Amino acid sequence: MTPRSFAVQKGSPFTMIASKEQRTAKALGRLGAENAFQVLARAREIEATGKRVVHMEIGEPDFDTPEHIKHAATEAMQKGYTHYSPSAGIMELRECVADFVSRFRGLTPAYTPANVTIGPGLKPIVWNLLSALLDPGDEFMYFDPAYPAYASAASYLEAKIVPIPLQESRNWRMDLDELERRASDNTKVLLINSPHNPTGGVLTRSDLERIAEIAIRHDILVIADEIYSRNFYLDTPYLSIATLPGMRERTVILDGFSKAYAMTGWRLGYAVGPEKIINATTLFNNNTFSCVATFVQMAGIAALTGPEKPVHEMNEMFRKRRDKIVAGLNEIPGFSCKMPEGAFYAFANVQQITHDDRKLATYLLENAGVALTGGAAFGKAGEGYLRFSYAASLEDIDYALAQIKATLPNFKA
Ligand SMILES: Cc1ncc(COP(=O)(O)O)c(C=O)c1O
Repeated sequence: MTPRSFAVQKGSPFTMIASKEQRTAKALGRLGAENAFQVLARAREIEATGKRVVHMEIGEPDFDTPEHIKHAATEAMQKGYTHYSPSAGIMELRECVADFVSRFRGLTPAYTPANVTIGPGLKPIVWNLLSALLDPGDEFMYFDPAYPAYASAASYLEAKIVPIPLQESRNWRMDLDELERRASDNTKVLLINSPHNPTGGVLTRSDLERIAEIAIRHDILVIADEIYSRNFYLDTPYLSIATLPGMRERTVILDGFSKAYAMTGWRLGYAVGPEKIINATTLFNNNTFSCVATFVQMAGIAALTGPEKPVHEMNEMFRKRRDKIVAGLNEIPGFSCKMPEGAFYAFANVQQITHDDRKLATYLLENAGVALTGGAAFGKAGEGYLRFSYAASLEDIDYALAQIKATLPNFKA
């Protein structure tokens, strides 16, 4: 039976509409959705007919979760870690997260468990954190295009959302003068995401310094979504805005296990920041998911304290795939793609072909067997781009590029 609670609005596929007849809330009209999951559903239908589909729509590493992490989970289950835990997470994991986040980013003195709250993936933590911070009318600033959950949550909470466009010409970093113009004492929260989904852009030290200066001047809280901090291809160490002078006390770092450890299905993520904000977020954890499965939390400890080799190996493979796909995309007539410096997405400009990225993405899925996401699904500034998640094998990437080249001439814009 088809679920009746939601209908997907035609023409605006990411907006759920509420219908009186269906007895759903009007507030649903303010919710967005991650288009990648909708593309995935269609891709699975096509596969079920026996056709080959290369999956480049969803942002998940195609590698298996490292063995020592799986082992830790099964062992924990056997030992009885199968009950509720506190809503902020089990103390041992919070200690490990505090230690790891401080070490990896070079933050001294180290955070303590009081600075950490754990959730079933980072996405629910984004929701709970924003719920803890935003009243209706509060100004929430972020960068467009962006991971859809930010604007969905902030809009649902009736915050005033202020998207600042990212610039392809700056390798997908923001126009800092525009940020300067738009930020004010009314701005409550600024959310940054580096490395960035969907573009792979990375903020430089001077970007972060300027953002920090603006945040301090206007007393803005910064949320730094650093979930791709381990998927990073520059030779310089990863730089978190929390390490800049005056920023630690006004920054909440978000991170998780999905991307670095190929643990998307385990659902484990966290926020680290000022104790009061963390406690408020935990109150929402308490009210929503109560706690994360305890054997999953034990697996998280194994991930953070175990060998780093699998993380580095996955990253090396991502780098090879990045080089292949970006070179290949730039050879396709009408496509151009900047070199991403982090995450595992290539964000190709297809504006010479069409501005209707959704139509092109649908065409490529149906005709080339390549599943990917249209850029507009990430915001207005993404119009005329396609996001390729290169969490696919080198062989799949070759096949996808050849399929796109072969079918593109018949696309009617
Ligand atoms: C920028 C960003 N933040 C947060 C998340 C949420 O990750 P998860 O809920 O799997 O931890 C994602 C997932 O794609 C993401 O791209």
